[in-house]
Amino acid sequence: MKAQNTTMQPSFFIETYGCQMNKYDSELIAGLLECHGHMQTTNPDQADTIIVNTCSVRDHAEQRALGRIRSLSAWKKGKKHRRLGVIGCMSQRLGKEILASCPAVDFVLGPDEYGILPRILENGKSMPVVRTRSNDQENYSWIHPQRAPGVHGWIAIMRGCNNYCSYCIVPYTRGRERSRSAIEIISEFENMSARGFREITLLGQNVNSYQDTDHSFHDLLKQLAGIDRDIWIRFTTSHPKDISDQLLEVIANEPNVCPHLHLPVQSGSNRVLERMNRKYTKEHYLALVKKAQKKIPNLALTTDVMMGFPGETDTDFLETVHLMETVRFDDAFMYHYSPREGTKSAQMKETLSQEQKLARLNQVIELQRHITADIKSGMIGQTVDVMLESPSKQNPKEWMGKTPNNHIVVVQGKSGPSGEVIKVKIVELKGITLRGCVID
Ligand code: SAM
Ligand code: SF4
Ligand code: F3S
Repeated sequence: MKAQNTTMQPSFFIETYGCQMNKYDSELIAGLLECHGHMQTTNPDQADTIIVNTCSVRDHAEQRALGRIRSLSAWKKGKKHRRLGVIGCMSQRLGKEILASCPAVDFVLGPDEYGILPRILENGKSMPVVRTRSNDQENYSWIHPQRAPGVHGWIAIMRGCNNYCSYCIVPYTRGRERSRSAIEIISEFENMSARGFREITLLGQNVNSYQDTDHSFHDLLKQLAGIDRDIWIRFTTSHPKDISDQLLEVIANEPNVCPHLHLPVQSGSNRVLERMNRKYTKEHYLALVKKAQKKIPNLALTTDVMMGFPGETDTDFLETVHLMETVRFDDAFMYHYSPREGTKSAQMKETLSQEQKLARLNQVIELQRHITADIKSGMIGQTVDVMLESPSKQNPKEWMGKTPNNHIVVVQGKSGPSGEVIKVKIVELKGITLRGCVID
């Protein structure tokens, strides 16, 4: 529970960059520190310790975090008791280099080293500390994450990644893939159900390779779905090479598993996919999409796609554009390639300038904007389920919520409560926002 520090308890503030896995890890760290008598605060000026949880996936993410960490030296100035820590993927990648470029930092911990955080804070004299050992057994099941109450929560069902896509830093920062035991995940899920969470997202870099003795991912998903039918279940990320027919059956048959697949394609060119070490072809991807759409009515599809990989020709790029026009994703995360030192693709010769990469990126962003708007316009007149989340930012008298396939809807004439599922008729698309009214 975040609170004002009115006691002598040491307090901490966590600032999180990067993916949902980092957000989940920040909840783990909050749980761990609170167990050791520390108190989380939402105000950095009241904190004794600031922890910056960082991302390394692209250079821009690192530069942003480094800029923020440097700026925090002013927060420490003249306050000897204050501590500044850097954790997460950039800590693992850069280790003590962070101390060289940000001298105010007191500790640097990689993603498998969070267990020693309370001891480090108790033993302030031995700082600075840098710990970046990998531990492929660590899955933090011994920590209870500290979640703020709400509608939505995350459960990491696995950590690490074994796929070594040639551009990606994650296998180096997060280590080998490891699955948590199904019993622990089920117990965490039951606990969240009892606390009133209504939407739970299962996390892993490749959830389709989840394996715990007799549980594959589809077994786990099916079992979780039966625990509390009022909880909508989502999951991310699915690797197109590993999705099973059984998983598609579970999504199709379990009413509270949301009909949404986030299926990163990365490129529409087989030549590029091979150099990316993605281990599938465009044909496999398109056939998978067709099969999933046939099995799961009203399936939403989203993707990650990258422009300007080394050697990407005009023809390769046009194949990506063509694939996006063919599939018509509901939405997409779109990036331009950023070389990461130590990955295989960092040794490949870059063939495009930053401007060319950006021009390609802007072209697909524009294309996707039109497709998303088209799909949303097609929903006007439909009646959909919406799970209410919170008052809308523009007009607090209206509430926003999400459909099972992850479209955000602002609902007129309904103020909460959060977590309630209501029938809504979509009446208009205003900018990028769907608006609807309640049906009795
Ligand atoms: N595990 C997921 C998967 O297999 O797609 C995603 C993990 S990654 C953290 C999220 C996205 O970042 C990737 O899907 C990819 O599109 C993008 N990404 C990863 N490395 C990148 C790089 N070096 N440059 C640009 N984008 C990158
Ligand atoms: Fe990175 Fe590929 Fe693993 Fe995703 S599957 S985290 S893109 S190496
Ligand atoms: Fe996530 Fe960034 Fe690490 S995307 S796994 S925090 S490199």
